Amino acid sequence: MSTSETTSAVPFVDLSIMHGEIQSEIDAAIAGTIERGDFILGAEVERFEADFAGYCGVRHAIGVGSGTAALQIATLALGVEPGAEVIVPAHTYIASALGPLHAGAVPVFCEVDEATGLIDPGAVAATITERTAAIVAVHLYGQACDPAPLRALADRHGIALIEDAAQAHGASFGDARAGSIGDAACFSFYPSKNLGAFGDGGMVCTDDDAVADLGEDLVDNDVSDRDQFEARLAEADAGIEAAARGMASGELASCPATCAYRGGCAHPSICRLEA
Ligand SMILES: Cc1ncc(COP(=O)(O)O)c(C=O)c1O
Repeated sequence: MSTSETTSAVPFVDLSIMHGEIQSEIDAAIAGTIERGDFILGAEVERFEADFAGYCGVRHAIGVGSGTAALQIATLALGVEPGAEVIVPAHTYIASALGPLHAGAVPVFCEVDEATGLIDPGAVAATITERTAAIVAVHLYGQACDPAPLRALADRHGIALIEDAAQAHGASFGDARAGSIGDAACFSFYPSKNLGAFGDGGMVCTDDDAVADLGEDLVDNDVSDRDQFEARLAEADAGIEAAARGMASGELASCPATCAYRGGCAHPSICRLEA
């Protein structure tokens, strides 16, 4: 028997099932946006930013083009200088390193905890040098990192803590909600994420007014060094348009249900490697 006869594709996730449950809200949001002719940075984006900030328990949320753009904008808004080192877990999606790299920083990889796959604070401590400007804590597979040791390291060395929460909408460690742990947190609304938009989309969350102001300026291209930002803004525009069409807003209310649906679908052999 050939391999093609014995194997079949296992779909990763069927978005149509989840979308079907909120189809009328999605249709109404799209229709409303078209009626208003308000495609980029309009009322829907503002509403979604406010909703999402509240959902994460922070004061500011800035809609951007993608999770990668969020990581780039957060790195810049936190004042990481070109050439500075940013510590990134060796086990993650490539964008955890690409965001800081696009911002001019140098990603430096550190080991992860073997049991969880999350960044290992001991390995972070061993990787910090005088050139380190930030740590990217990636909340992988819906698991939130323990904030305490990472916060302590960041404070002790006077460096920034950035959360990559692209895979962790709604996740928490104890009472600490992903998105509220770092100096800035980055989310992705790529369609297959727990909260997926109608295309690319992302968010930078922060409680820091100065980081929020600078992040908004970067999104608005309100900076003098335009060459450095043009490519990223084209990407941001596409994602913000997607959010403005209301897809992400329409889904926010159903995010916990979406996470539960996915949890219910997950098979123990995938989730628990030792099972
Ligand atoms: C951990 C992680 N970080 C960042 C990203 C980048 O997000 P985006 O695809 O929206 O740029 C992803 C997306 O897959 C991700 O899984």
